[in-house]
Amino acid sequence: MMAMVFYLAKGSSMSLSKLPYKGTRDFFPTEMRKRDFIFNRMKKIAELHGYEAYDGPMVEEVELYLAKSGEELINEQIYSFIDRGDRKVAIRPEMTPTLARMVAQVHREFPKPLRWYAIPNLMRYEKPQKGRLREHWQFNCDIFGAPEALGEIEILQVASGLLKSFGATEEHFEILLNDRRLVDAFFKQTLNFDSERSHKLYKVLDKAKKVSNEALGKMLDELIPESVKKNQFVHYLNLKTFSDVDNFLTMYGLKDAAAGFVSFYKKLSSTGLSKIVVYDPTIVRGLDYYTGVVFEIFDKSPENRRAICGGGAYGNLLQIFNEPAMGGVGFGLGDVTLTDFLETHKLLPEFKAQDCDVLISYLEDSLEPQAFELAHKLRELNIKTELHLGEAKPKKVFQYAEKKGHKSVTIIGSEEVKNGSFEFKRLRDQEKAVISLNQLSELKEFLELTHG
Ligand code: HAM
Repeated sequence: MMAMVFYLAKGSSMSLSKLPYKGTRDFFPTEMRKRDFIFNRMKKIAELHGYEAYDGPMVEEVELYLAKSGEELINEQIYSFIDRGDRKVAIRPEMTPTLARMVAQVHREFPKPLRWYAIPNLMRYEKPQKGRLREHWQFNCDIFGAPEALGEIEILQVASGLLKSFGATEEHFEILLNDRRLVDAFFKQTLNFDSERSHKLYKVLDKAKKVSNEALGKMLDELIPESVKKNQFVHYLNLKTFSDVDNFLTMYGLKDAAAGFVSFYKKLSSTGLSKIVVYDPTIVRGLDYYTGVVFEIFDKSPENRRAICGGGAYGNLLQIFNEPAMGGVGFGLGDVTLTDFLETHKLLPEFKAQDCDVLISYLEDSLEPQAFELAHKLRELNIKTELHLGEAKPKKVFQYAEKKGHKSVTIIGSEEVKNGSFEFKRLRDQEKAVISLNQLSELKEFLELTHG
């Protein structure tokens, strides 16, 4: 193994860049407030649907991804290296292989269906652009061992439930959906394609919306020179509704092969989801492990027309660990694309102000012990309290509090200590309240606090 050697440029005057590595982000407090807000919402929605949190390692053996992730991810996007013990490892580019590995270890101990969620950071070597970075966080929800079609419906409800919880409606997003059982049966039985040709056609479908019509036509000419088959493929590409799909399956005798999909869209029609789910023949997903329903959630805004979320059903992931087949369905929803979506539709609040309830300051150093004591008492009541350390002029203290977005200020002088009561000034409207040391919880009402 070739070990990489680094030399420290001792005493060199070269200055280091302050910027983060290409395609990654620094999260300063304001961005962190936004991130926490979004992640808390993800956790809440997952738990509201009965999902439990899990997590796994940042690094996995490359083998894990070679087994089932797609060619693009492995050949072009993976961050891999050889560790000091000569193992080929990779920084996780997605969570599903880790999840499958973990589920394979313990699934016997859990009642089914098993519902798990995580918000891992993932790394993919991509060309950074709007909606695509090299590091992103991805909300993953997956269900294993659910009855036919019901896991798919629940997973779509969780993903769309998250968007709705921010106030998004069917005007803002849509779920484009297809089924690999239909595509497989059509390629194999109708077009008579072997697995190599089918694989190539899958790649063409995956690219269909990302390339021009001419480029698509050229790819199809090369792959399907037979005119009858090409017409059949064009017929497929023109399917727009589940009723078109139903006629298509009947016409080509594919209903049995795609029975799972038929039962899925029949069930779908009795749920509220049918308003936001649209059949799309070009949705096949780039990852190789999907075997059933596949979907992507798209922003409807022309300014931000991209996938916020992608997922689907996979039947054989546990088998790569020599475990019995148990189907899973899930989705990954990225923080970058979600934030772009929410900002495009103005569905996020402002995150400028720090969420702190009180700033305490004191006029003389001798009052320091009383200031610490007051801060301690307020924190015991779950009131977020910052102590302005060191003697300071009131004007400066108020400027500092305004800048940081505190809700109120109290300044301790010897009078306050003698009386055992303190004046709190609410910065929003400059209202004042005098509250005694043994009635401090009144401050919660004065500040209309909802926490604690
Ligand atoms: P994926 O389609 O590769 O699926 O990623 C899911 C979502 O993650 C995308 O729709 C996008 O929002 C976000 N995403 C992916 N790559 C990037 C990137 N480079 N920068 C920013 N956001 C990105 C999966 O990863 C599957 N493992 C999801 C899954 C879970 N399927 C079943 N369970």
